[in-house]
Amino acid sequence: MPKRPASHANFPHTRMRRTRSTGWSRRLVRENELSVNDLIWPLFVREGKKISEPIPSMPGVERHSIDHIAIKAAEAVELGIPAVALFPKTPADKKTDDGKEALNPDNLVNQAIRTIKAAVPEIGVIVDVALDPYTSHGHDGLLRDGVILNDETVELLARQAVVQAEAGADIVAPSDMMDGRVGAIREALDKKKFQNTQIMAYAAKYASAFYGPFRDAVGSGGVLQGDKKTYQMDPGNSDEAIREIALDIAEGADSIIVKPGMPYLDIIRRVHETFLIPIYAYQVSGEYSMLHAAAANGWLDLEAVMLESLIAFKRAGASGVWTYFAPEVAKIIRGITD
Ligand code: PBG
Repeated sequence: MPKRPASHANFPHTRMRRTRSTGWSRRLVRENELSVNDLIWPLFVREGKKISEPIPSMPGVERHSIDHIAIKAAEAVELGIPAVALFPKTPADKKTDDGKEALNPDNLVNQAIRTIKAAVPEIGVIVDVALDPYTSHGHDGLLRDGVILNDETVELLARQAVVQAEAGADIVAPSDMMDGRVGAIREALDKKKFQNTQIMAYAAKYASAFYGPFRDAVGSGGVLQGDKKTYQMDPGNSDEAIREIALDIAEGADSIIVKPGMPYLDIIRRVHETFLIPIYAYQVSGEYSMLHAAAANGWLDLEAVMLESLIAFKRAGASGVWTYFAPEVAKIIRGITD
């Protein structure tokens, strides 16, 4: 056991409030800082033209048609946000049991990737690898007789990732929690000469009730048959997260995601102490909406809780955060008010 540091002088010699007594001093002793460079901005894509449609359960968040998504990406660049993540709301008539629209090079998300890369090539584009936007049953994988098929799903995910890389995705983010998908995706990408396409793995993704508003946003909630507990993790587990992450790293993940964020800060801290890999927290839809709802009631100060919730991820050991607050936070950090 390392020895504790020699005991500090006691009160009144030691006064912890001394360094807190002025703004300049608090800034000097500050241990963690939130930067625009820490932000990943998730965006929702829909079909149509010139549309930005509000999502009632996510105040301030909209689904954008592809022309508008390019404008949002340009806004991100302007604000210094390094990357956006795209989520499509697939029209119901394109959803099937086998989710084959996921492999369509011209599906909504692939069109959005191409449009953004043509308009603002300097931004990082991240896209989920999973079948849930495309399946009529709302699951991330193939469903047969009530069972989510692992290996058959992994084959499709590897093909989906290649199609997304061909569209120009910089980072593919498998969010499905199937076993072995990171390795299969890495091999498929490399075979097609996409050695430099990054994999940011949703490595520790919990079967959480905090995803509700997101499922409204992409239209997968109403159709979801059952729950995702046979592939997403049980909220009570921590050792299992470490095993999941060890596997994803061994399979070639470049970075990993812990999701949701705030209720899982202990996981972020533990992963940070266990592995040397960039960790991203996903502050999910329910966390976002919860803070908004309380603020709308006058119970919380939105700007203050937004910043406090985000610095918590940095303190826990995250390299960055996926957050729907990204543009607001970026403006605050940069001192822009509008
Ligand atoms: C789908 C996916 C989900 C989220 C990101 N990718 C939902 C789910 O697993 O059902 C949730 C994001 C959020 O709640 O903000 N694989």
